[in-house]
Order: sequence, then structure tokens, then C-alpha cells
Amino acid sequence: MSGLYGHEVTRDADMELIKKKLLEAFADEWVAGYYYMLTAYTIQGPNSGEIAEHFMEESREEIGKHAKMIADRLEELGVDLPRDFRKLYEISGCKYPPIPEDPFDIDGWLIAAIKAEICAINAYKELYHITHGKDPATEELAEDLLRDEVRHRTELMNLLSREGLKRLEEELSQ
Ligand SMILES: [Fe+2]
Ligand SMILES: [Fe+2]
Repeated sequence: MSGLYGHEVTRDADMELIKKKLLEAFADEWVAGYYYMLTAYTIQGPNSGEIAEHFMEESREEIGKHAKMIADRLEELGVDLPRDFRKLYEISGCKYPPIPEDPFDIDGWLIAAIKAEICAINAYKELYHITHGKDPATEELAEDLLRDEVRHRTELMNLLSREGLKRLEEELSQ
């Protein structure tokens, strides 16, 4: 069936995929928010105070801003949030990269977070592509989220030591 301007009306299958991806992203935001708070309370060492504050701020943004934006869209689409927290982790598209044993390995904690941001960036790029021209409200949401995650990645990379940056490059090229 053609829409008013000759566009295809968004097919049910497309909408189902969009809803699934939104739920995955909602879960990702909670998982990242949790791990960022964990990081803030775990890391130790000379610069840990300042970096912990940064992680707390990002934790707030992932849950208080991003998860909320996605929940608002899910509500508009008539999708219920998971009632079981285990389910939330299960559907998370990104989960979370391995975290270091050592609380003093701040570079290691930053690298895990940077990898989580890269996963989120890829997920929002994908959401943008599958909604482009089909679901303008979700497309715009994906764009806003993508912009924030790119900023997060850059800010976290700026906190790495010179050795940490080298380590990140090595790990990403593997
Ligand atoms: Fe986020
Ligand atoms: Fe983020």
C-alpha cells in the first residue's frame, strides 16, 4: 500500500525489527549505566577521583537520559518494558566488555568503556539505517543518541594515558 507521498507505508516486519532494536538499545543503556557506576566506585589511584566523577556523569546520562528517551519511544509504539531484570540483560545487544581485575588499571577500565561506546555507536548507526525514510521519529532519536555516544567515546579516549591509547589501538586491531 502506498502512503500519501508515494512512500511505502512502513511494513509490519520493519516495525517489529525497529521495536526489537529499540529494546536491545534500552537494555544496553542500563547495562552501560550500571558498569559506569561500578567503574566509578571501583577504580583507584592518583587520577581516579576525577575519572570516577566522569563515569558517574556518564552513568547518569545513559540511564537518566538515553534509556528514558528510548523508553518514551517504546511507549509511543506500545511496547512494554521487560518486567524481569534478567531479561533486560539477556536482550542487551552489547552486554559489556571484560573489565580488569585490578582497580588501579584505570586504562583497562577506560578501554572497556570505550569498547562499549563503540558497540553503542554501531547499534545506533544500524538503527538509523533501518529507520531511515520509514520511521522518522526513531530515525531522529537514533541520530541524537549516536551524537552523544560519539562524544562519550571521544571524552573517554581523552582520559587514557599514552600507553592506554596504544593498548586500545592494539586491542581494536586484533
Ligand atoms: Fe547511551
Ligand atoms: Fe555512552
